[in-house]
Amino acid sequence: MRLSLRFLLVVGGVIAAAWLVPIFLTDASGLKFGFPYRVFFTLFTLFAGFLFYLLRGPAVSPIESAPKAVASVVAVFLGSVGLIVLLANLSPQFAFESKAALGQTSQEKGKVLFNDPNVGCFLCHQVAGSGGTRGPDLTRAASVAAQRQPALSAEDYLKESINNPGTYVVPSYDNIMPPYAQRISPEQLRDLIAYLMTLK
Ligand code: HEC
Repeated sequence: MRLSLRFLLVVGGVIAAAWLVPIFLTDASGLKFGFPYRVFFTLFTLFAGFLFYLLRGPAVSPIESAPKAVASVVAVFLGSVGLIVLLANLSPQFAFESKAALGQTSQEKGKVLFNDPNVGCFLCHQVAGSGGTRGPDLTRAASVAAQRQPALSAEDYLKESINNPGTYVVPSYDNIMPPYAQRISPEQLRDLIAYLMTLK
């Protein structure tokens, strides 16, 4: 049996779309249609095309019994779901991280850091009613920081409070805050300060 031109156009068109459409997907869409997906989609289309090709010919052996029919449906289902799950793990379809990195301001990144358990600020400090109470409430951090040390701007006070908390220990609190000078990067410090400066 010959392959019809229309058949080849459909299969070719679907595969071409799988490779061309991702070029026009912007990062802002948050969708990532990575290389493994395109290869998978291409093979899947070729396979589906092959099945259609067989269906047109005379030589398909009919499925003889109900159990066999059920078994083959289940096998195809498990096989394709398994493959898709595997691929989804290898290459996440949604690019959350890159989107976050693209669209976030310094203040937003600082807020994320503040609430990141690895950094730990929120474990000791409250902001707007949530967080720990071992350290001072930072709900109005920027306004408070502006008044703590007459010689220091709010930013400089916050910087010193994070880098070397022992320098100016807030009255009635213990000097238990770990110095962050070696623990976070200069960029992270800048982001944290940008966030704290929004708390007035
Ligand atoms: C183990 C608990 C703890 C952790 C974790 C902690 N702090 Fe503190 N922090 C304190 C305590 C207690 C004080 C008050 C004593 C002092 O000044 O050192 C304080 C003071 C401060 C001050 C000065 C507040 C004021 O009113 O003058 C700032 C600003 C601050 N912390 C920010 C942070 C940031 C940002 C982080 C995360 C990078 C953080 N802290 C992590 C306990 C903690």
